[in-house]
Amino acid sequence: MPARPRILSGVQPSGKLHLGNYFGAIRQHISLQDAGEAFYFIADYHALTTLKEAEAKAGRPAAEVLAENVRDVALDYLALGLDPARATFYRQSDVPEVCELAWILSTVTGMGLLERAHSYKDKIARGLGATVGLFTYPVLMAADILIVRSALVPVGEDQVQHLEMTADMAGYFNRAYAEVFPVPAHQIHRAAGRVPGTDGQKMSKSYGNTIDIFAEGKALKSAVMGIVTDSTPLDAPKDPDGCTVFALYRLFATEAEQAELAALYRDPLRNTAARAGRPFGYGDAKTLLLGQINAHFGPARERRKALAADGSGVEAVLRAGAERARAEARATMALVRRAVGLGV
Ligand code: ADP
Ligand code: TRP
Repeated sequence: MPARPRILSGVQPSGKLHLGNYFGAIRQHISLQDAGEAFYFIADYHALTTLKEAEAKAGRPAAEVLAENVRDVALDYLALGLDPARATFYRQSDVPEVCELAWILSTVTGMGLLERAHSYKDKIARGLGATVGLFTYPVLMAADILIVRSALVPVGEDQVQHLEMTADMAGYFNRAYAEVFPVPAHQIHRAAGRVPGTDGQKMSKSYGNTIDIFAEGKALKSAVMGIVTDSTPLDAPKDPDGCTVFALYRLFATEAEQAELAALYRDPLRNTAARAGRPFGYGDAKTLLLGQINAHFGPARERRKALAADGSGVEAVLRAGAERARAEARATMALVRRAVGLGV
């Protein structure tokens, strides 16, 4: 792999981002912008495959929900540190060449490959309508990656099969026509493992157990105070391992802070003077977690407000990113069209 590989990843505009998204994906995306030539995009064409679901939930027109979600996710990424001077940041639908490439890839891809997709089967099982778009979702995803001839794709565990399919499709095309596409590698985000939600299951929008990155004030406090803990009495020793509050605290805290909190769990009568003589309880641990969340995301919240107030700023960033991405896409499509004999 070259010293500065080309890196690409896509983010679905699916509503408010939570701590699982941050520690499981966003943080890695942002740190990778220095490791190579990064391309990050908001997958709005992909979102159309599930939009009816979002519309039903929000009780509003689908177009409105999509536009708002795209803007929200753009603001979130920019506020959290995505730097458009270092990474090319764009909206997928501003690069419509991906749809042309998806069509061409679909003509070299066997039905059998797509029929094996877990994600399609899971979505159908959850009651989503079996549209052609949902079925060919992995082809569009392969086009996203191959159109900028990306070498490395950072993704969560759930997307690995799609990446394997992308490598297959690159190979089918190269063998059928000419060596146009490098076969991309993927890199699974493992740093945080699985971030637990307020009920102890995996944090996920679909379980309603999230703590949102940009929640603040009362809403944030009630999410944190609502984290489910066991019923160990206040002054009895508690086990930090297996406690959701502790697991979340670890994501933010230094080693020394983690060791101090673990010591308080194990010996709730430690340093009672700091709590007006009270033993250390889960409520105290939640207050410490809340402090960490506020300290960590406070500056990003302020940046997000400033960006949101600047009416056209975000749009300008996305448009400039699309120009850069589109120049790459056009160059790739020229090679593809020549290889297959279209318009030559
Ligand atoms: P949700 O489950 O809330 O719908 P998504 O599937 O949209 O979240 O997640 C986008 C990315 O965020 C995933 O590919 C995954 O890498 C990461 N992610 C989401 N939830 C978690 C979690 N609880 N722990 C770790 N990573 C997560
Ligand atoms: N399917 C990805 C997800 O749901 C989003 C995505 C679309 C993507 N195109 C991509 C990710 C290309 C990586 C590369 O999270």
